[in-house]
Amino acid sequence: MRYQRPKGTLDIMPEEAGRRFWLQTRCRQVLDLYGFQEIEIPTFEHTELFSRSLGEASEIVIKEMYTFTDRGGRSLTLRPEGTAGIIRAIIENNIKLPGRLFHFGPMFRQERPQKGRFREFYQLGVEVVGLASALVDAELIEMATRLFRNINIRDFSVAVNTIGCPDCAPEFKKELVKFLEKSKGELCKDCHYRLERNPLRVFDCKNETCRKIYKDAPKVREHLCPECQEHFEVFQAALKKYNIGFSINDRLVRGIDYYTRAVFEFISPKLGAQDSLGGGGRYDNLVEELGGPKTPATGFALGIERLLLAAEEFPLVEEKPVFVIGLGEKVLEAGIRLLKELRDQGIPAVLNYDASFRGELKPQLRQANTLGVRFAVIIGPDELAQNSYSLKDMETGKQVMLKLDELIAFLKSESEKC
Ligand code: HAM
Repeated sequence: MRYQRPKGTLDIMPEEAGRRFWLQTRCRQVLDLYGFQEIEIPTFEHTELFSRSLGEASEIVIKEMYTFTDRGGRSLTLRPEGTAGIIRAIIENNIKLPGRLFHFGPMFRQERPQKGRFREFYQLGVEVVGLASALVDAELIEMATRLFRNINIRDFSVAVNTIGCPDCAPEFKKELVKFLEKSKGELCKDCHYRLERNPLRVFDCKNETCRKIYKDAPKVREHLCPECQEHFEVFQAALKKYNIGFSINDRLVRGIDYYTRAVFEFISPKLGAQDSLGGGGRYDNLVEELGGPKTPATGFALGIERLLLAAEEFPLVEEKPVFVIGLGEKVLEAGIRLLKELRDQGIPAVLNYDASFRGELKPQLRQANTLGVRFAVIIGPDELAQNSYSLKDMETGKQVMLKLDELIAFLKSESEKC
């Protein structure tokens, strides 16, 4: 019986893992510059945390969550996103605010897999909790653009919108419902449900007929209260000061209920249908909604697989280990001593114990080639007698006999070039 990985999941092979490590390192450099600290949260939470935070009418809650009942009869859900868990953790652990937190990790959504869309995917999420100014939202966008540049993503655009606050959103929703009622007969089944639960969610609909209808729908930004109006203006002015090109997309509502005021998305033309590198926005009511004090917050998340698709190059310099080759049982002990010495000196090294024991040279050279190593060190009876090592350059085929200190000095200087 052979098994296959579940649909929509990924096996991340070593080369790809190397790219991901590089990407994470480059992201962390930027996050450091903006004073962010890392947080880790569980991969599953009580289901209610997500249904409450993301909204009963959101696509994620209706169709995409991996929910199960554990042996204790509790309903748990694999996290579909990170914000709800982070806010829960902040409240539960009484974290001092304002705080700037980031997290890397896998998320789970039962979506139809396609290019850039998986059922298990990785996100980098950042959250600034405890600051209300629109300048923070603009700074986050500026940070994201710096992050993109640092991982060689040059081609992207920024779309922004505002979705008001509990003071002005209800008025807008009434207007929207009035508009939707006129075409109710033409709306899809899901939009009927959205209309009842949260009419703003109709803008998440992918159905062509619905989308055509929504083109003429009222715009949130034309129904803002004075505070939200000012917030949106400060936000746009700050983006201009940062020299960030952006466009306003009146249909951008981000698919999740916790948002208030500014929302934004980063789009890449390299991604095809799933063109969002990431997105986020302000969520000034979520902390209170989850049982904490009234606390403003804002943040965004980027999809790691999409960043990898959009990145134009990966200047990876991977240090390959030295391949130590033993020619028989008698020299194996010397080989193992050399391995230890090289590793003590910080030089990566490997040895094929089975083939070394048998003393087979060719299979070991072949393996060194397959691994793509640059140097092999051969120890046979001659080397043992002369207390030396044969260093073979696998690229040129040249071989020289060296004493241990010469060998280490040479390999160290080569290692420093990486
Ligand atoms: P989101 O827009 O649902 O926001 O997800 C953010 C990003 O995660 C997307 O733009 C995309 O790059 C990636 N992503 C989402 N679903 C998939 C998938 N099925 N396969 C691959 N990548 C995917 C959030 O998750 C919010 N928590 C962002 C946020 C943080 N808002 C405030 N703070």
